[in-house]
Amino acid sequence: MQYSKILALATLLITTAVAAPQKRACAYTCGTVCYTSSAVSAAQAAGYKLYKAGSTDDSYPHVYHNYEGFDFPVSGTYYEFPILSDGDVYDGGSPGADRVIFNTSDELAGVITHTGASDDDFVSC
Ligand SMILES: *[C@@H]1O[C@H](CO)[C@@H](O)[C@H](O)[C@H]1NC(C)=O
Repeated sequence: MQYSKILALATLLITTAVAAPQKRACAYTCGTVCYTSSAVSAAQAAGYKLYKAGSTDDSYPHVYHNYEGFDFPVSGTYYEFPILSDGDVYDGGSPGADRVIFNTSDELAGVITHTGASDDDFVSC
């Protein structure tokens, strides 16, 4: 094989190896936890389904009052629902630190976390 072809092949292999993690690029990073857009969509879908079912009494989703004053790109009323670092869709129990925020039209407002926030506040992911 010609040197130039070997070089081209090596370049291709290196480029592929470097680019591979992009397949699961982080749409949001909460602390050190990476969430893909599909993970965010799955959490939002589960939360919105429960919201529509009226199942918001004593757990999640529940109204998020935005006491932190985030400048979300969509208007409220907002609801918060856990997004879990282990990739599962939340179905009760410990909600962890991270939340998806959506409005009552199922528009994603953002992803926020307790990680790195003081007290019970949230910071944006
Ligand atoms: C949800 O957000 C969208 C985009 O800002 C907005 O058009 C819609 O009216 C909002 N829904 C409610 C119920 O506020």
